[in-house]
Amino acid sequence: MVFGGSGLLGRSVMRALGDWTVTGTSFRRTSQRLVTVDVTSKEEVLRVLGSLRPDVVVNCVGERRPEVWANAPARAHELNVDAAWLIAGGARHVEACLLHISSDYVFDGRDPAYRTDAPRNPVNAYGRWKLLAEDAVHSACPDATVLRLPVLYGPAEYAAETNLTQIACQVSAGAEVELDDVCVRYPTHTDEAAEVCRWIAAAQLRGQCLGSVYHWSAEQGFTKHRMALMVAGRFGLSTGHIRAGEADAASGDRPLDCRLDCQELRAALGWPAHRYRMFGDEFAQVVEPWLRSACP
Ligand SMILES: NC(=O)c1ccc[n+]([C@@H]2O[C@H](COP(=O)([O-])OP(=O)(O)OC[C@H]3O[C@@H](n4cnc5c(N)ncnc54)[C@H](OP(=O)(O)O)[C@@H]3O)[C@@H](O)[C@H]2O)c1
Repeated sequence: MVFGGSGLLGRSVMRALGDWTVTGTSFRRTSQRLVTVDVTSKEEVLRVLGSLRPDVVVNCVGERRPEVWANAPARAHELNVDAAWLIAGGARHVEACLLHISSDYVFDGRDPAYRTDAPRNPVNAYGRWKLLAEDAVHSACPDATVLRLPVLYGPAEYAAETNLTQIACQVSAGAEVELDDVCVRYPTHTDEAAEVCRWIAAAQLRGQCLGSVYHWSAEQGFTKHRMALMVAGRFGLSTGHIRAGEADAASGDRPLDCRLDCQELRAALGWPAHRYRMFGDEFAQVVEPWLRSACP
């Protein structure tokens, strides 16, 4: 069962588990393939888990949009922390294995690369909520596995759904824009992250002894400004309107570089190098639809 099956990562996880019997949940985005569940309701979470009794639960619900952290912090806390705790308790109650998705933002970004046991020290509300969620998940479901991921990109349903598609819109719009050229991010394809989720879920189902926390990330780091130049370069767009800035770094609430040390999981997966998706090879396909159409 995939909670958040309508979201950016959840859609990829649903695809990656396509040959399993999978139920995905959504909230606002309804679809025949998804059941509507409000994960802030204990009754609804317990009812859906009790009726479907899944073997494994992947929790892809979260609120990661900075404008929501700022304008509706109680709602963001509810989705990031309280819902994580409810789902974890429900999964344990029906004896399902649980994979919970967390973020590299639990780290402060001052001392990369971060091992799974590195001290967590988030610099913003989102990171603090993800940290609280990790602890809540492990207290409600001690055998749960937490997977920390960096910024994701992949097929988007709306331009603001990923950082990358948002940047692509700014490049193609042509209006003056300043993009941070200090904070380094490791954009990771949602389909690669989803394959990793599948591998962890399959190992959980086999009863394999897994770590309580894993990291997964692409290797190559980019600033937002660098990504904008790459988009412009690939599609022959002008860059005159794009200035390099340091707004994110100067804000104090964006970590500088949260590179995740992924050795443990890479070794456990034993994936050959050709299965890693390189940003330079993949980004054009993701941004192309947003260059041709008007970005909202
Ligand atoms: N995106 C990233 O760059 C990134 C990076 C690192 C970690 N993560 C983590 O990965 C996970 C998935 O992120 P994402 O980017 O895929 O998120 P997303 O696209 O915003 O999707 C969020 C999901 O939560 C669902 N949801 C929202 N409110 C709900 C409610 N009240 N009840 C039930 N479901 C509700 C949404 O359903 P509807 O849309 O149908 O309402 C959607 O399926 C999160 O834990 C996030 O923190 C994301």
